[in-house]
Amino acid sequence: MLPDILCKSKATMLRLLSPFHSVLLALPPERAHDATLKALRYLPVQKNAPDDARLHVHLLGLNFSNPVGMAAGFDKNALVADKLLALGFGFVEVGGVTPRAQSGNPRPRVFRLNEDGALINRLGFNNEGLQVVRARLEGMRKLSGVIGINLGANKDSMDRVQDYLTLLAGLDGLADFVTLNISSPNTPGLRGLQDKEHFSALLQRVSDKRANIKSRNGGVLPVLVKIAPDVALDELDDICALAVQHRIDGMIVSNTTLLRLSSLRAHDAKETGGLSGKPLFDLSTRRLAQTRQRVGEKMVLIGVGGIDSGEAAWAKICAGANLVQLYTALVYKGLPLLDEIKATLCRQLEAHGFSGIEQAVGSQTGKFAQE
Ligand code: FNR
Repeated sequence: MLPDILCKSKATMLRLLSPFHSVLLALPPERAHDATLKALRYLPVQKNAPDDARLHVHLLGLNFSNPVGMAAGFDKNALVADKLLALGFGFVEVGGVTPRAQSGNPRPRVFRLNEDGALINRLGFNNEGLQVVRARLEGMRKLSGVIGINLGANKDSMDRVQDYLTLLAGLDGLADFVTLNISSPNTPGLRGLQDKEHFSALLQRVSDKRANIKSRNGGVLPVLVKIAPDVALDELDDICALAVQHRIDGMIVSNTTLLRLSSLRAHDAKETGGLSGKPLFDLSTRRLAQTRQRVGEKMVLIGVGGIDSGEAAWAKICAGANLVQLYTALVYKGLPLLDEIKATLCRQLEAHGFSGIEQAVGSQTGKFAQE
């Protein structure tokens, strides 16, 4: 447990956490992650000051105090969603959660690519499973702020589609939105659910099921789909057409990539797994814009992949994102990055004469969609 002095105020806390951050970067990645979760869990965080009203976003029947969320994979077991919201994230995506607990792939399975501002992970959906995560989320029922849950299938599952349905039923009343994660590269065959036939079957069964499932506020549960940046454009055509046809509420673009750019410099760049962080930015932003072109203006899109500055977050919004998420850059830059992003978004709104984020969404989709 960290000393009580760390709880004074957010500014004090950030100052005191900064040497802690340097220590974390000296630890192996997974140990650093566990230490961060422990610190957040046992640290009574003071609530962040209210966000600038221009950053408020109303979507999916939900109020986001700002459009910047913690991406899936950071809080896989719903240990610190409340703390992350208090620290100023506009929303948190908990998970990936699978019906049964699983330990994931053997360690080491997360690699820092320091020189590239990137990570490679092949965790393989390590998580404590539906029952444990559900119990923790029960304790957060009254929490204000938006909590999404990222759903995955067990590696040894005989019916992966059924896994998503089991999770939907098990999380009834506990999520503000759920994400069908069919794009993790670390569960063999999972990305096959993005193929036209399988995707169509998945969406059909989810559509039938969701009618009986409630969201945390008692309304209809918004369902999003998270896709890989590695899908070809003809595959993206099919995915978008089916998502619209089945009234999916939103898409998250994107998960990590299996591609390895020749420009990567770090020693571990050839490790197997999904690449995230700065080198993912261009590809994921292009796929985001191309998704916006295919689904039209109404569908909610969350842009994620390589956001490491306020300018990068602004670019995602201009490319077509209603909301953004990040993970990897927080490893390198720490929590001050969140405030930097929010401040830049406000500055950009002012510079463009916009009164809110929605006016900027998709303002440069054509530019970012170019191959
Ligand atoms: C992830 N990501 C992820 N995504 C998902 O849908 N379910 C998951 O369980 C995980 N787990 C996970 C673990 C680790 C260690 C990392 C680095 C990433 C992907 C993540 O949510 C995001 O889509 C990508 O990391 C791209 O964003 P950044 O990291 O470049 O900001």
